[in-house]
Amino acid sequence: MNLNRKIIAIDGPSASGKGTVASRVAAALGFDYLDSGALYRLTALYAQQQSVSWEDEDAVAGLAENLPVVFEANIIRLNGQDVSDAIRSEEIGMGASTVARFPKVRAALLQRQRHFLTDKGLVGDGRDMGSVVFPDAALKVFLTASARIRAERRAAQIGIPTEGVAFERILSDIETRDEADRRRAVAPLKQLPDAYLLDTSDLSIEQAVKKVLDWYAQI
Ligand code: DC
Repeated sequence: MNLNRKIIAIDGPSASGKGTVASRVAAALGFDYLDSGALYRLTALYAQQQSVSWEDEDAVAGLAENLPVVFEANIIRLNGQDVSDAIRSEEIGMGASTVARFPKVRAALLQRQRHFLTDKGLVGDGRDMGSVVFPDAALKVFLTASARIRAERRAAQIGIPTEGVAFERILSDIETRDEADRRRAVAPLKQLPDAYLLDTSDLSIEQAVKKVLDWYAQI
């Protein structure tokens, strides 16, 4: 069987809910799930731990090449340490976006991402799943939501009101990171011509998951 038939690529901006949707689609189909953003986040965290500047492309790529990472069921370990929460901070998100601009860092992580594919099938989420990592994926989805809605979801997650200084900060962080991910020269975030657009601004998670499963069933 052509393994490409069992690949679903879900790309989209930060905090769009693509991780939740992608992992639920994977569970529904019995596929594995690749959170590619976690690899960029791990690279940024590892650089910080090793006192390597996020701007030093060669040094960061060297670290990315040899990330001492182990993915367990619900835990991500870096050098044996549980970093599942540490990689989710806004600071490390910004670091990930910074190191992700560099071609050598992206190249260092490319094969590692492709190795997640087995004959079980794979749902991958990120910014370049459909354009670079799995260009022959059976289904490509561009999953997005307005920046304000994404900021509101993030605020709800961390339990702060959807107005005020802290909220405005979240919104502007989201907009800054989107802009950086869209404008970069290498593997920028964009909707591909062959990707289905899924705007989740007015959809529940269940509705978004169902939409992806319906598209997959049709191909
Ligand atoms: O999806 P996320 O927020 O965890 O991703 C963190 C950063 O990593 C994001 O700002 C850009 C980068 N990234 C990328 O360049 N390519 C991917 N496939 C996934 C993430």
